[in-house]
Amino acid sequence: MRTLAVFASGNGTNFENIVTSRIEGASVELLVTDKICNALNIARQYGIESCTFMRKDYESKEQMEKAIASVLVEKDIDLIVLAGYMRLLSPWFVQRFSGRIINIHPSLLPHYKGKDAIGQAIEDRKRIYGVTVHYVNEGMDEGKIIEQVTVPYDGFDAVELEKRVHECEYELYPKVIAHLCDQGDIQ
Ligand code: GAR
Repeated sequence: MRTLAVFASGNGTNFENIVTSRIEGASVELLVTDKICNALNIARQYGIESCTFMRKDYESKEQMEKAIASVLVEKDIDLIVLAGYMRLLSPWFVQRFSGRIINIHPSLLPHYKGKDAIGQAIEDRKRIYGVTVHYVNEGMDEGKIIEQVTVPYDGFDAVELEKRVHECEYELYPKVIAHLCDQGDIQ
């Protein structure tokens, strides 16, 4: 059984979907957030341990990440699953957990990196819509792509696109996690 820590900053719908998908070979042991957000309510609802590490409570980003790392080590976490965690991890953290951090991003990377990828895609008017799961490296929404799917939609409505992106994410992320856990593709 592989142990998972999910990192989130907001609504946590992907977190909830990962929990309720009951992925074979994976156990969600921990939620990590960087703020007080709805994902914490979801953790409470499902009896999953959670912790919040706010940047303002630490002298440096390094100290904050060292605190996160010690909880992950203490809980013996195999895979770190970023699900709407809107904070760039430092090279130190990425190397410390190298090959064991994955992220989901609401675009067909390398298109529309960073914040508000859905807004960027709409703005671009090219209908390049999709979802990407990738290993995390030092860059923003970079790192080796594990799986990508296009989101079938030919309009320009951000609310509708977000709905369709989420539908794809809810299908894709548990599948990728199951595959990684099953294949032992976690370094
Ligand atoms: C998801 O759409 C995820 O792809 C995106 O944040 C959303 C979180 O939704 N992540 C990024 O933009 C990362 N750069 P949720 O909190 O409802 O799961």
